[in-house]
Amino acid sequence: MYAPVELEKPVTVQTLRKMKADGEKFITVALYDAPMAAMAQKSGVEAVLVGDSLGMTVLGYDSTIPVTMEQMIYHVEAVARGNKKSLIMGDMPFMTYATPEQALTNATRIMQAGAHMVKIEGGAWLAETVKMLTDRGIPVCAHLGLTPQSVHKLGGYRVQGRDEDQAGQILDDAAQLDEAGADLLVLECVPAALAKRITDTVSMPTIGIGAGRDTDAQVLVINDILGLTEQPPKFSKNFLQEAGNIPGALRKYAEDVKNGVFPEDSHTFY
Ligand code: KIV
Repeated sequence: MYAPVELEKPVTVQTLRKMKADGEKFITVALYDAPMAAMAQKSGVEAVLVGDSLGMTVLGYDSTIPVTMEQMIYHVEAVARGNKKSLIMGDMPFMTYATPEQALTNATRIMQAGAHMVKIEGGAWLAETVKMLTDRGIPVCAHLGLTPQSVHKLGGYRVQGRDEDQAGQILDDAAQLDEAGADLLVLECVPAALAKRITDTVSMPTIGIGAGRDTDAQVLVINDILGLTEQPPKFSKNFLQEAGNIPGALRKYAEDVKNGVFPEDSHTFY
């Protein structure tokens, strides 16, 4: 059984690829500040995401759409000061990567703030952008399924890929982003069977949130882990309730993912 220990060495893209090859799950937490980032390092969390979810979890907006580059940079810098070992991903805000050129300019700023990778939401239309960034040494995490920046196009925060056409589209998007050189793939709110199929076919590691237990990693938002969300999503779990304190909650989350205990059926879409 796995018991969390502090990260010894900095985690790299290669570390995560090796973990996928070895069938070892890795832990990701979306968090936004230096103390939580330091705690994640101590709890053995391999990857941290400075998510644009901070628009809702920290800044009080209704969606991620109002989040700006300046806000992302401020929080990436804070997380990078608090954590020297986890791989740090920085989300690119809404409409900051609409063209490959715009993506290169803005990804440069996120990387210079201390991120080791940028995350962008969308399918095959981003293949050219992924190639542009990765060819120039900027690792990219892609994001498919429920992509919150497209909430108004999707008609709400709903599970994606439930019918065959949609599932086929997501599969095809994943293949094209993999081919273009994406380094990681977040799969949000998709049926477990689809997430498994993608995980089994792409070379990049997959990180699931509401995507069942067969992805290479799991990610949860720190506010959900700590029970701070008024109406928590079905796929999340309040680990603080059981653990009693914040370091314990992070360790319990890490332990349950590594030991295959989380997510349970009640957190999964079929
Ligand atoms: O912004 C974020 O925190 C995210 C995760 C929920 C994957 O994109």
